[in-house]
Amino acid sequence: MSAYRSEHLSAHHELERFDSGNETLDVWLRRAARHAEAANTGRTFVWVEPGSPGVVGYFTLAAHLVRRDDVPKSVGHGSPDAIPAILLARLALHRSLQGRGLGSQLLLDALERAVDASARAAARLVVVDAIDDQAAAFYERYGFRARPGPRHLVRKASEVAAALRDDWPSLAPRRGLPCPADRRKGVSHSPIGLRASTGRGASSQP
Ligand SMILES: CC(C)(COP(=O)(O)OP(=O)(O)OC[C@H]1O[C@@H](n2cnc3c(N)ncnc32)[C@H](O)[C@@H]1OP(=O)(O)O)[C@@H](O)C(=O)NCCC(=O)NCCS
Repeated sequence: MSAYRSEHLSAHHELERFDSGNETLDVWLRRAARHAEAANTGRTFVWVEPGSPGVVGYFTLAAHLVRRDDVPKSVGHGSPDAIPAILLARLALHRSLQGRGLGSQLLLDALERAVDASARAAARLVVVDAIDDQAAAFYERYGFRARPGPRHLVRKASEVAAALRDDWPSLAPRRGLPCPADRRKGVSHSPIGLRASTGRGASSQP
């Protein structure tokens, strides 16, 4: 049994066999993620098993601006016309791991990094870019709300941070995932080696 590690994308990671079932996301990882890194237009983090370069999940974050007129009043109130945000541009898990709660853990990893970035560079919102309507439904489960535009959903970074501190109430214990209280205690119940002490399905590298 081994936990997954969350790492910043680097040259040694093996991307060719990544298969989430969504070809657009798979091809982007293989062909464009490293270019986005080099151009500073997208920062990609990957999940790997320790000792293996093979990527089993990834997400990409970028700085973003949202027009105040494009978000609900409750979100835009008191903001400048252009609101700084962190964009979760892509997120995908290898299809062999889907349906066990790991997609939620990957999302939590992405949101923790987004909240950290928002604290360092003052972003008010977290925006998620859903690849299709099903993906939008996935994000809506975590409190993100649709805003005008092609499947963009938005939530205040402060709310995301608070939900993470509360261990995200909607992450009920199921399928062997550590329950919220146990995650706080750092106890893993997972038959697939989730490292609960990090609060994620993966231990994290900068
Ligand atoms: C979306 C994705 C990350 C979800 O991963 P996963 O491991 O299957 O998700 P989980 O097992 O953690 O599911 C968490 C919850 O979300 C629900 N869920 C999963 N995928 C969903 C979807 N596409 N739409 C709505 N709900 C979804 C699950 O039913 C589960 O709910 P439950 O707790 O009531 O059972 C994964 O299916 C994937 O990589 N898909 C291809 C790429 C993609 O669509 N990315 C989306 C962002 S662009």
